[in-house]
Amino acid sequence: MKIQHNLKFFSLVLALLLAACGSDDPIAEGNTKAPKPDSTEHQSLVPGDSASLQTLLRKYDPPGRDVWQKPEVVIGKMGDLGNKTVADIGAGSGFFSRRLAQQAKRVIAVELDPRFIHFMDSIKRVELKPEYQNRFETRLGLPNDPKLKPGEADIVLVVNTYIYIQNRVDYLKNLLNVLPKGGKIIVVDFKKKRMPIKYPTANVRLELYEVENELEAAGFSNFQSDDCSLDYQYIVMAEK
Ligand SMILES: C[S@@+](CC[C@H](N)C(=O)[O-])C[C@H]1O[C@@H](n2cnc3c(N)ncnc32)[C@H](O)[C@@H]1O
Repeated sequence: MKIQHNLKFFSLVLALLLAACGSDDPIAEGNTKAPKPDSTEHQSLVPGDSASLQTLLRKYDPPGRDVWQKPEVVIGKMGDLGNKTVADIGAGSGFFSRRLAQQAKRVIAVELDPRFIHFMDSIKRVELKPEYQNRFETRLGLPNDPKLKPGEADIVLVVNTYIYIQNRVDYLKNLLNVLPKGGKIIVVDFKKKRMPIKYPTANVRLELYEVENELEAAGFSNFQSDDCSLDYQYIVMAEK
């Protein structure tokens, strides 16, 4: 009964998403220019956002996101995932977790918002082959605690979420305890520079070096930062 309810709910959300994709899909039009990640109020994407789930889904996964997000580039930075567990912090709709579940041994999608936990639990049953579904676990985190046990993840991924984490250095220290020696953290977020996009606004962007400084303060080292591969975002990678 609960599964039927979830599927009905998911079907409704999926229908809305497909409708939103419509004819302005930049890929369908053969447009090679990266579309703007968001043309509405991206600055309101904060924990506890009171917008409806449908509105948030449109904001997090706007049509054509794959073109500028290049998930294969970000995931490619992780190396061979066959024997690795990835924790996706602030997983949202599961944009990355769904893709990672098809490559990694296990994915733990940590999210604050129970609506997204519910959404991911529904969508994985519809979108992923049965053999991948068991690799994809959702977990309700707290603002100051990802609820991960020491040694539970080999790699931590934080995409478009870093700035919303409160007491970031303490939170990062917590993540450091989760990782084994040599374990990696990858932070992907919007560059703080002039770009042909308006949102997210400057007040919800951090300079790349600020992310590096905070990671270093928490105890991470061996930085590899890349602000060229993605159109709008940098990728900061560091190790325990
Ligand atoms: C802008 S969305 C990004 C979602 C996803 N990473 C993506 O790239 O599509 C930010 C998400 O992070 C979640 N979030 C914010 N702070 C968090 C925290 N401390 N722990 C877990 N999730 C958090 C929010 O609820 C929201 O779903």
